[in-house]
Amino acid sequence: MAKDVIIACDFPSGEETLRFLDRFTGEKPFVKIGMELFYAEGPQIVRAIKARGHQIFLDLKLHDIPNTVKKAMRSLSALDVDIVNLHAAGTRAMMEAALEGLTRPDGSRPLLIAVTQLTSTDQRAMEEELLIERPLDEVVMAYAANAAAAGLDGVVCSPLEAGKVHARCGESFLTVTPGVRFADGEVGDQKRVTTPARARELGSDYIVVGRPITQSADPVAAYQRCVEEFCHEC
Ligand code: C5P
Repeated sequence: MAKDVIIACDFPSGEETLRFLDRFTGEKPFVKIGMELFYAEGPQIVRAIKARGHQIFLDLKLHDIPNTVKKAMRSLSALDVDIVNLHAAGTRAMMEAALEGLTRPDGSRPLLIAVTQLTSTDQRAMEEELLIERPLDEVVMAYAANAAAAGLDGVVCSPLEAGKVHARCGESFLTVTPGVRFADGEVGDQKRVTTPARARELGSDYIVVGRPITQSADPVAAYQRCVEEFCHEC
């Protein structure tokens, strides 16, 4: 089972992102590109980072009718990214269409993972605004099971949910987990955090780490510390 640290490159411009990545002269970390950077710079920033030898998780969280998502995924697949994602709320039909669009003529494709319920959605909003009355963790697990049934490779979730997701969807179903902080670091706006070492114990397959690395005085050392704590038994 692959275990890796993914750096969330939440920078507003390509220039800033590439300057940050210039610091990594030896290793080529796995990076996450989100909407802010992608919408500012377009596919070119993906090509530029890929050309430097990084693996890329393109975090665009697609959610539309199945045919549109299928075609969008076909475009993303041509970009040669390694992981892409969508909202499980788009239904199984949308997730299956996404997989079809993502699969290249030779049968290869990027990994496809699902967002279940966003961590910014709480029980109240779910009940009062979305009219979903079941407990939040039950909804998260049901969406994860839908993603697995549609043939997806995993979900984005908290390390605290990784064990439950594996129990429900299988050990090989990937858990990609943000909300990671060093034991002696700042928590910031994340609510439920775990250390890289704890995330490994809990069964996370990939941890997504942003500010503890990007805002560190020594990002390369912070990244290496994450790798040591999270991957040391890999
Ligand atoms: O800086 P930090 O380590 O909090 O960054 C975590 C990254 O993971 C950010 O890009 C954030 O948008 C993303 N994320 C998250 N929680 C989720 C889903 C994604 O923190 N539930």
